[in-house]
Amino acid sequence: MTFPLGEQSFIDSVKGVDYLIDQHISNEAERVELRASLADFIAQEATHRHIHTQFNAVLQAQGFENRVEERINKRLERYRNEHPMNLLAATCAYEHYTAILSDVMLKNPAASETMQPMMRRLWLWHALEETEHKAVAFDLYKRLGGHERGRIAAYLLAMFLMQLDAFLQTSHNLRRDGALWKPSTLWSMLTFYLGRPSRGNGWIWMTTRPLLAYFKRDFHPHQLGDAALPHAYANEHAQDWRVVRTGSSQGLGHHSGATHHQTA
Ligand SMILES: [Fe+2]
Ligand SMILES: [Fe+2]
Repeated sequence: MTFPLGEQSFIDSVKGVDYLIDQHISNEAERVELRASLADFIAQEATHRHIHTQFNAVLQAQGFENRVEERINKRLERYRNEHPMNLLAATCAYEHYTAILSDVMLKNPAASETMQPMMRRLWLWHALEETEHKAVAFDLYKRLGGHERGRIAAYLLAMFLMQLDAFLQTSHNLRRDGALWKPSTLWSMLTFYLGRPSRGNGWIWMTTRPLLAYFKRDFHPHQLGDAALPHAYANEHAQDWRVVRTGSSQGLGHHSGATHHQTA
């Protein structure tokens, strides 16, 4: 439920450092390629934002109130005076987190097996695109001379705030369903974190190592995950998608920039 706000702030953070590109990069061809990869990133996040806003509207109609929206809006308002590179560092942090979740989803079909088919497709489509652009904000941050300390500080803060937001909203959703204090809910939480990955559970086991990898000095998003997985998923579901836009190569890796639109 927090995604549309998050995705808007990712887009804003990338746009916010545009003026620094001219200052840091003298090579015209490099600037053009970089801006094309940023345009692809923005196109993907804007599409996610659009689709997740529709999803949130459905949840709202079912009586689920977006409790964290106001908190996040106030927070983003406070950050407006921050240096744009700090906001970009926060985007790098969230992008790392979404890339980890995407890897789990794409690698482990059991993690999404119990989902309603349309929701499963939404999440796996989102996972595919997050994997495609996972290094864009990071490479931009590095290219514009972003500091290691700022990168790590933003990560610590972002992970704390995200867990807090998710905890508050999930508690609210469970209360709305009358399920907050049920023993079965506690059990489901325990298995979600500590259960067996082969059953799509045990997120602690599946995510701790990649979460810690971000602290390494020589960390790069392409060190993690299996690059073949998003390709395999995209090919397997080629008939479900219409690639609506292809830009330059993202400049940094294996994927071309593309936004996939569902055809069905
Ligand atoms: Fe996204
Ligand atoms: Fe993203």
